[in-house]
Amino acid sequence: MSIASRFLPPPKADGTVCFTLDGEPVMARDGDTLAVAILAHTGAATRTTASGSPRAPYCMMGVCFECLVEVDGRPNVQACLIPVREGMAVRRQDGLRGLRHDG
Ligand code: FES
Repeated sequence: MSIASRFLPPPKADGTVCFTLDGEPVMARDGDTLAVAILAHTGAATRTTASGSPRAPYCMMGVCFECLVEVDGRPNVQACLIPVREGMAVRRQDGLRGLRHDG
């Protein structure tokens, strides 16, 4: 078994999707995760801690929780675990968020 065979092939990037990040339109490759799309667009933080420290996606595999964003009104979504979709409304999270969506 070769090492390469242990990994899934990269997603097909045969199109683009558009989503918004804090209300700004962003183009992304179809098949990328939301975290990749945000990093490719801004390279900036996706959230801040309660003390205001900036955080950005780090592990890209659902472990560190540094990639939390609000997606379509739902807070605390791990951007590295979901594919970017056409029309999603994404917002950076600042400070603490509740565990449940109240909206
Ligand atoms: S980047 Fe680590 S959990 Fe998403």
